[in-house]
Amino acid sequence: MPTPSDVLAERFASALGAAFGEEYAGVDPVIRPSQFADFQANAALALAKRLGAKPREVAERLLEHLDVADVCLEPEVSGPGFVNLTLRPEWVADQVRALAADERLGVPVEEPRVVPVDYSAPNVAKEMHVGHLRTTVVGDALARTLEHLGHHVVRQNHIGDWGTPFGMLIEHLLAVGEDSEEARLLVERPNDFYQAARAQFEGSPEFADRARQRVVDLQAGDPDTRRLWQELIGLSTAYFNRIYSALDVTLTDDDLAGESSYNDALEGICEELEAKGIATVSEGALCVFLDGHTGREGRPVPLIVRKSDGGYGYATTDLATIRHRVEDLHADTILYVVGAPQHLHLQMVFETARKAGWLPPGVEVVHVQIGNVLGTDGKILRTRSGAPIRLSSLLEEAVDRASAVLADARPELDEAARARIAEDVGIGAVKYADLSVSHDSEYTFDFDRMLALTGNTGPYLQYAAARIRSMFRKGGLSPADATGQVRLGEEPERALGLALLGFGGVVAQVGRSYEPHRLCAYLFDLAQAFTTFYEQCPVLRAEDEAVRESRLALSAATLAVLQRGLGLLGITAPEQM
Ligand code: ARG
Repeated sequence: MPTPSDVLAERFASALGAAFGEEYAGVDPVIRPSQFADFQANAALALAKRLGAKPREVAERLLEHLDVADVCLEPEVSGPGFVNLTLRPEWVADQVRALAADERLGVPVEEPRVVPVDYSAPNVAKEMHVGHLRTTVVGDALARTLEHLGHHVVRQNHIGDWGTPFGMLIEHLLAVGEDSEEARLLVERPNDFYQAARAQFEGSPEFADRARQRVVDLQAGDPDTRRLWQELIGLSTAYFNRIYSALDVTLTDDDLAGESSYNDALEGICEELEAKGIATVSEGALCVFLDGHTGREGRPVPLIVRKSDGGYGYATTDLATIRHRVEDLHADTILYVVGAPQHLHLQMVFETARKAGWLPPGVEVVHVQIGNVLGTDGKILRTRSGAPIRLSSLLEEAVDRASAVLADARPELDEAARARIAEDVGIGAVKYADLSVSHDSEYTFDFDRMLALTGNTGPYLQYAAARIRSMFRKGGLSPADATGQVRLGEEPERALGLALLGFGGVVAQVGRSYEPHRLCAYLFDLAQAFTTFYEQCPVLRAEDEAVRESRLALSAATLAVLQRGLGLLGITAPEQM
C-alpha cells in the first residue's frame, strides 16, 4: 500500500515530465508534511535554477499538469514556490479502510536483503551491564523490523568467550566443583563468581601458575580443558537466556557466534594482511596503519592484529566477523549494534577489511552506535556502592515499581492480574526508554520518568492500546468486527486517519536508517492523535449509527497499528491496564 506521499510523488513525476520534458520526471518533488497543509512540495525551488525561471512560475506551470483531483483539494502555490496539498477526507477515509483491511497495515514488503545483525554480545562469566541491555534492546527491535520488511536477518551474538581470564575461571570452576553452589553463581550472579576467581588468582601464586598453564592448554585444545571451558559457556548462556527471556528478546542459542568461533581464521587473517602489504611488524606486533588515524603528537595509531607475544585480540576477531558475514553468510548489509566508544575500533576494522578485499563495495556495513546509559548523577550507571548494577535486579525493580504504579492507578485489579500486567509494563518501560531516544545519544536511566503514564513512554502507549480494548469490551464488541465504512467529518477524525496512514512509511524508514526511535515518535504521535479524537468524538455514544461504525473502525485500526508497532519494538501491549 503506497503512503500518501508516495502517491503524491508519483503524480508529481508525471506532471514534471509533462511540464518540462521527460528528463525532469525524476526530479525529487520533496514532499513533506507541513503545518500549512497536509503536505508541501518543494520541487519548484530546485527546478527554477535548472530552468532559469522564477520558482513561482515554475510552480504554476507544474500545477497546470498536476493531476491530483481525486486525492487532494485544489492545490495552491504558496510563498516563493511551494505547492500546498490538502488531502480529500474521502480519499483519506478510503485509504484508512484499505489499511485496516491490509494484513500488513500498509507496511511494504521489500526486496529481500541478507542482514547479519551483531547485537547484545555480553561476556562469559560477567554481569551484563546497562550498555549490553541497550544494544540488546535496540538490536532486537532492528532485527524484528527488518524481518517484518521481508529481509533475511541473521542474528549474531558475538559473546566474549575467549581470552586469558579463562585460565583463571576454569581453575576456579575446578576448585569449587562443577556442580557446586558456587558454580551456580555463574547463572545467578556471574560477577560474584568472577570476583572469587580473581581473588584466588591474586592471592595464590600457585593458583596463578595453574591458571596460566590452563590458558596454554585451552589454546592447545586439551580435551579436558575444553570441556571445562564449555561448561563455563553453558552456565553463562543460561544466565544470558534468563535475561533474554525476562526481556522478551528473540536471541536463542542458535544465534551464538562468539569470539572463539573465529579462532581458526585468525592466523590466516594475519598472513593475508601481511602478504598484501596491509599489515607490517612494528615493535614485534603485527599492525595495520591507516591514513588519518593519528594519536598524540601525530603518531599513527595502529590496529594491532597480532600482539608481540603472538596472541590475537579483539581487532583480529572482528576482521574475521566481516569475512565470515560476507563470504559465508552472503551479507548485503551488516549491522554492528555496538557501544559508541568502540566507533574508532570498528572504523579501523571496516577500513582494513575494505583494503584487504573482504568487504566489497556492494556490501553496506554500519556501526549502529549505542550511547552510554547514565545514572541520575550523570555518570555511568552504577549502584550506590560503585559496583556495576545487576541487570536482573534492575529488571525486577522495574516490574516492582510498575506494580506500585498500577496499584495506585487501578486499585480494583486483583493481585494476579496486576502481577501479569506489571511484567509487561515494567519491562516495556525499560525497553521503550532505550528505544525512544536516538540510539547514539546518551540518556539518563530514570525509573520515575520511564514508568510515567504520560509523555513519550512505554506505559503511555500500552495504556492507549488498553483503553481502546476496554472501550470495545464495554460496548460488547470485538475490534476484529469493526470493519465499517470510515468517514472523516471532524478534524480529530481526519488527523487520526492521516496519522494511521503514516505507519508503513515509518517502518520502512526504520529499516533504512536503523533508527527505532522514529517508530517510537510515530507511535507517540498516533497515541496523542487518538487521545484527542477520543476526548472530542464520542464513539460508543456517537450521534448516529454510521458515525459510530466509522469511529469504531478508526479505533480498531489505531489499536492494530499500536500493537503491531509495539511488537516491532519488542514490547507487549497488555489486554488491560
Ligand atoms: N563483548 C563486547 C563488549 O562487551 C562487545 C562486542 C560487540 N561486537 C563486536 N563484533 N565487536 O564490549
